[in-house]
Amino acid sequence: MSDKATGFRGGRDRYSHQPVLYREVVKHIAEPERPLRLIDGTLGCGGHSSLILRSNRQAELLGIDRDGDALERAADVLAFAAGRTRLVRGAYANMKDYAAEAGWASADAVLLDIGVSSPQLDDFSRGFSFREDAPLDMRMDRRSPVTASRILNNSSFEELARIFREYGEIQRYGKLAKAIVERREERPWSSTRELAELCEKVLGRSRKGAPPAPTLCFQALRIAVNDELGELEKGLESAIDLLAPGGILAVISFHSLEDRIVKNKFRDESTECICPPGCPVCICHHKARLKVLTKKPLTAAADELVDNPRAACAKLRVAVKI
Ligand SMILES: C[S@@+](CC[C@H](N)C(=O)[O-])C[C@H]1O[C@@H](n2cnc3c(N)ncnc32)[C@H](O)[C@@H]1O
Repeated sequence: MSDKATGFRGGRDRYSHQPVLYREVVKHIAEPERPLRLIDGTLGCGGHSSLILRSNRQAELLGIDRDGDALERAADVLAFAAGRTRLVRGAYANMKDYAAEAGWASADAVLLDIGVSSPQLDDFSRGFSFREDAPLDMRMDRRSPVTASRILNNSSFEELARIFREYGEIQRYGKLAKAIVERREERPWSSTRELAELCEKVLGRSRKGAPPAPTLCFQALRIAVNDELGELEKGLESAIDLLAPGGILAVISFHSLEDRIVKNKFRDESTECICPPGCPVCICHHKARLKVLTKKPLTAAADELVDNPRAACAKLRVAVKI
């Protein structure tokens, strides 16, 4: 497959990450060609950003990622536009600080492609995957003190149960939390394989078509380690504050917990009054700040899925700042 607008030829880039929904992202952010200050809050390998910088020669980028390895890859991928690019290691919730440091009072587009990247999943030593045995790490930012093993070894039963219920939507969350607490009395948690085996033992083999039992447990821990949902809420608020009128906010999510936060934020921010139903007069004085451009989230087309099956769960929502 080749794509005239982006020059992208499909398939994986040299860092085994293929940007999802890339045509839709380029169309909404890079077109038409104009001066554009883009904040990519989840730079990853720079896949989306490089397509935007190639499509719009007037675009400038502030690229943010928590992961030092990702930033090194992105610097390589974006070398062709080094003069238009500034990269920052940090959390996108802090994008207002990074924009101020770059001398940007506002931005014309913010892109968030949330979750883990393919290189993070495929590097078993990071502990995001249970396909190989590895330390229970799961930090996107390896400078952070909070690892998955620290959560498993130090959190109370109640806190573990909450993590599995809220972030993994695991039905038998209490049973799993109890088994984890009992096992750590013998020896501390340290291995992805041991955790995956316990999940299978406690939750049973998953039904045909459902994710394997450890998948939801690993997802829940990863979200807790990286405070992914808290970051998303703060990041959306910062992005809306920073965008100039007419600026574009594009968010790609991979599971329903994330998409629900984006959907609700877009709904609230595109509504003039958010008083409780039945309230006779408006007391909230809320003003809409966004116009939603995607009534339903955009999903990957069939030809993209052939190249990149990981795009199957991706949902893109786009809004414009009023
Ligand atoms: C799905 S990848 C993005 C891929 C990128 N769009 C591309 O085309 O190469 C997600 C990236 O976001 C980073 N990330 C996730 N949450 C973050 C946060 N709160 N702040 C900064 N970076 C974050 C991860 O480290 C990862 O590199």
